[in-house]
Amino acid sequence: MSLDAPWVAVAAEHELAVAQMKKIQVGDKRLLLANAEGRFYVVDEMCSHEDYSLYLGCIKDHRIKCSLHGSFFDLKTGEPTVEPACEPIRTYPVRVTDGRIWVDPT
Ligand code: FES
Repeated sequence: MSLDAPWVAVAAEHELAVAQMKKIQVGDKRLLLANAEGRFYVVDEMCSHEDYSLYLGCIKDHRIKCSLHGSFFDLKTGEPTVEPACEPIRTYPVRVTDGRIWVDPT
């Protein structure tokens, strides 16, 4: 079953192993798809502390770590859990259907 707009298919369900990430571009938004222990999340690609890609970090316990200064962000809420970042990153609704991962980028 396909989902209607604004949902966009961004990957196959089997594409990402646990703890892997994929950069995705939806319209003018640069986002990250992350597999944390089998659950999928989509967040902004760039860290809220400085303009640095979280793709260069890693996934741990449903959090993503920025490799530049070591901030962690909760993948469910986008809130920083470790300083120096104090602003959240944006999170986006995700659904898995028909073997594909969908995001609502609005
Ligand atoms: S750029 Fe991410 S913590 Fe500083």
